[in-house]
Amino acid sequence: MSISGTSSTAGATGDGALSAAGSASEGKLTLYGSTGTGRRVTVRDLALAKQRGERWPMLTAYDAMTAGVFDEAGIPVLLVGDSAGDNHLGYSNTVPVTVDELITLSAAVVRGTRRSLIVADLPFGSYQGSPRQALETGTRFLKEAGVGAVKLEGGRRVVHQVEALVQAGIPVMAHIGLTPQSVNVLGGYRVQGRGEEEAERLLADAKALEAAGAFAVVLEVVPAELAARVTELLHVPTVGIGAGAGCDAQVQVWTDMAGMTPGKAPKHARRYADLRAVLTGAAQAYAADVVAGAFPGPENSFH
Ligand code: KIV
Repeated sequence: MSISGTSSTAGATGDGALSAAGSASEGKLTLYGSTGTGRRVTVRDLALAKQRGERWPMLTAYDAMTAGVFDEAGIPVLLVGDSAGDNHLGYSNTVPVTVDELITLSAAVVRGTRRSLIVADLPFGSYQGSPRQALETGTRFLKEAGVGAVKLEGGRRVVHQVEALVQAGIPVMAHIGLTPQSVNVLGGYRVQGRGEEEAERLLADAKALEAAGAFAVVLEVVPAELAARVTELLHVPTVGIGAGAGCDAQVQVWTDMAGMTPGKAPKHARRYADLRAVLTGAAQAYAADVVAGAFPGPENSFH
């Protein structure tokens, strides 16, 4: 389905955590809008935001330049999602995305940013096999790409993977509800957690993932009422996508948010720009100038 300081993602965290732009006053600490700390956002900052009841935005990112724009815009968390499959790499879904592909994209996103916490997806087939496999893949993302955390899909069936990663020092964002890597067993991109039995299962998954050490839980395409219940129940932040306004944070695929995705936007997305039309217009204006001999002009020429 269809995220100068140092390039280190760790950064020193004083107890005050982030300060709001131009203010270090305790009551005004915010994740979004605080650009002056000179360090990366950390998972501890996200935990403190949950305690303050502060909502925060998250976006996907797949390249250095776009990630740099979102970083400068103050987006505190960027996800190098395996949604790169259908939104960047030209696949029809997330399943074919490889570890090597996502490590290359993640390293670019880390290089292009200064402040955002960079979370990378563990691709399909790179962690389900065993906690050891998850640890080997997660370690590559931290060492080779420099990300600050990884994300993986699944509920109770991946708690041993989450435990192994967290115990080894790798922060984990969990992801339940509609998990696109499992589209073939889910029977398509359907709302998850409808009905009491499915809802109880999702609640149990969320609790198990928190107990295993996940620092946040993504809830994708689940009923808003259920997402709000999970958010109340957990001490770690929930990150919604198609899960209503009751979550602690929201994540969107950036190409959906900015109108770059062709065709109709998914129901859970709101378009904040029409980037596809802007780029089409720019390409056509450039082409017309070349054909007419109007580009390059004297100001673009060397003598
Ligand atoms: O890959 C991705 O972009 C995601 C988000 C939709 C949560 O997993």
